[in-house]
Amino acid sequence: MGRPKKTKTGVKKVGKRKNPLQSVRGMHDILPVDQKYWDHVINNFVDTIDPFGFQKIETPTLERTELFARGIGDETDIVSKEMFTFTDKSGDSLTLRPEWTAGIARAYIEKGMSSLSQPVKLFATGPLFRHERPQSGRYRQFHQLDLEVIGDKNPIIDAQVIFLAWKILQNIGLKDIEIQINSVGCPECRHEYNSALASFLSAKKNRLCADCKKRSKKNALRVFDCKNEKCQSLLNDAPDIIDSLCEECHNHFKIILEYMDELAIPYNLNSKLVRGLDYYTKTTFEIWYKGSKEKPVELALGGGGRYDNLVELLGGRPTPAVGIALGIERIVDLLKEEKINISEKNKKTDVLLIQLGNLAKKKSLHIFDNILENGIKAKEALHKSSIKSQLRLADNLGAKFAVIIGQKEVLDGTALIRNMQSGIQEIVSADKLIPEIKERLRNYKKDK
Ligand code: HAM
Repeated sequence: MGRPKKTKTGVKKVGKRKNPLQSVRGMHDILPVDQKYWDHVINNFVDTIDPFGFQKIETPTLERTELFARGIGDETDIVSKEMFTFTDKSGDSLTLRPEWTAGIARAYIEKGMSSLSQPVKLFATGPLFRHERPQSGRYRQFHQLDLEVIGDKNPIIDAQVIFLAWKILQNIGLKDIEIQINSVGCPECRHEYNSALASFLSAKKNRLCADCKKRSKKNALRVFDCKNEKCQSLLNDAPDIIDSLCEECHNHFKIILEYMDELAIPYNLNSKLVRGLDYYTKTTFEIWYKGSKEKPVELALGGGGRYDNLVELLGGRPTPAVGIALGIERIVDLLKEEKINISEKNKKTDVLLIQLGNLAKKKSLHIFDNILENGIKAKEALHKSSIKSQLRLADNLGAKFAVIIGQKEVLDGTALIRNMQSGIQEIVSADKLIPEIKERLRNYKKDK
């Protein structure tokens, strides 16, 4: 064996078996065993929001870095520390989207959605990227269920978005949740609050971490995002943002709380909930999983708020908006941990096609296609050859019937239909196979 050769990419070519490669830190595979949880979460999300007139949108995974710097704010942790940013071959600074809202607001402006009937209600699901320290429930590639309502300033829309987030989680099977809610006011009230908070913090500046010292001067509200426990404990006696709200912001918040009472959703007023993104105005909220009495936890499954200035900040006309995003990984992890029963309604199999011997295997390709073309929910077992293992598969899939084709059936122009519950098998003519299966499925439903 000669010296290892280097390829263009710098990877050494050696004769020996190579070290197995691993996924990038904080990025994970979603394996086939977990797909049922993902389907359950996404299907419930789509089914829950469907009557409310939301339309699906997809925006590019890569956007100009400036979009997030302007939209989310330079001093936020997301922009200053967590973005996957690089310069492309044309010298442009691009970023893997760390969230949906800024990209959706950009699309709203760029694609002239302000000329549509307002509000425009959009939803999205898909991957996002943040370079955070990976730990339980925190990944560098993660996915969200996102809802945005753009073009309506009425507080009932805030309440509706919160209600939908609550309802989605209930339908998914997570019941022990609580809404944390606050108002961060409009830029005027926030300006007043930031000054009050900055002077409160100046007396404690020697006890703040280096980051918070900078934050307290530039954008004091961001001190609430600090993960350092000492900084958090200094905030215990901080002035309350609610006291700085102007009359309009105060009224907006009051009306939302009235709607929440009307909807009987459990909520908690949390004056420290400023959320780590600068675009919020007025309402901010998070959805926390509270766990059980025996195992109490506080885990943010989602968060959102109103962002009445974002569209204008990104170059559009002044347009009020509100939205929320739920983290899919956190929801799926909980479903598994809490052993919550999930339905696999779209996965049900009515028929398994079983083939025995080479001739039957060959014919079964066409027969299977014909079964599917006729709208029958079926699966095949071409990778298996013994009758025993194929029948076991039919049981595992919960199939109601097995269609069995062996050498004899191919030569006779017939097929066997086996009722998986009773074990009774009947011979049918191959050219009547489809109506015979359909009739049995119809009767099966009636018998149930
Ligand atoms: P966010 O609070 O940054 O808000 O994220 C929402 C949810 O996404 C979190 O509550 C969490 O469940 C999940 N999440 C965030 N980061 C990670 C991570 N590193 N790993 C796993 N899950 C994560 C937003 O993104 C706003 N855009 C929400 C919004 C929509 N506001 C208005 N419209």
